[in-house]
Amino acid sequence: MANVRQSIGSTLGFQRRARRRGGRHGARPGARAAAGDETLVTATRGEAAVPVCPKSIVLVGLMGAGKSCIGRKLARELNLPFVDADEEVEKAAGCSIEDIFELYGEKAFRDGEERVIARLLDSGLQVLATGGGAFMNSRTRERIKATGISIWLRAELDVLVRRTRRRADRPLLKNDDPRATLERLMKERYPVYAEADIIVDSKDEEVDITVTRILKDLKSWLGRVTAAAPSENP
Ligand code: S3P
Repeated sequence: MANVRQSIGSTLGFQRRARRRGGRHGARPGARAAAGDETLVTATRGEAAVPVCPKSIVLVGLMGAGKSCIGRKLARELNLPFVDADEEVEKAAGCSIEDIFELYGEKAFRDGEERVIARLLDSGLQVLATGGGAFMNSRTRERIKATGISIWLRAELDVLVRRTRRRADRPLLKNDDPRATLERLMKERYPVYAEADIIVDSKDEEVDITVTRILKDLKSWLGRVTAAAPSENP
């Protein structure tokens, strides 16, 4: 495991930045590695130019995809704060998601979720784990597209069923056949989740291994976007 952890980040070029040096998230703004809005901005750490993630990472996917668990580790690797949208909705409402559904109904939850995510996306660089339904809201989707890099954690039905069994507090799965619910949600949501910038399979494997794959895909996505961006100084 130590080897896996060591390999995360460093071998992929996402080296850790020193905390609280220079700019808001520890990066001292430096030269741009290439032109365009989505370039790998380099921060200075000693003599080294360190690539940093230029936008918030927004994790999307169905319940049980691993958004919170993977998000926490990913945030650590990218030296960004981790934020869980469901927790923020609960804080804002002053009660649990279960209670929001029960007392006010799903529509009220969705409205609150939209407002909370809009505020979070406006509050600086972060790794944001969204609730499974958030990306289905077209306004939220547009905000995510404008301000973040979306990553769909795609998982197979059996994996989702197994993982969601560990918690009994998800209102949408409190029924006689949670497997059928998940299957229906897969059909409805997977075509929309597929609009995410990056798609990574969330499998039954060590979280560190999934995070390593995410960092690798993120790095190549950023490279492609950077290469495609028009040059600032032709
Ligand atoms: C929901 C997913 C939940 C939570 C709410 C609704 C959904 O979040 O937002 O129960 O519609 O898929 P997780 O995906 O984090 O479980």
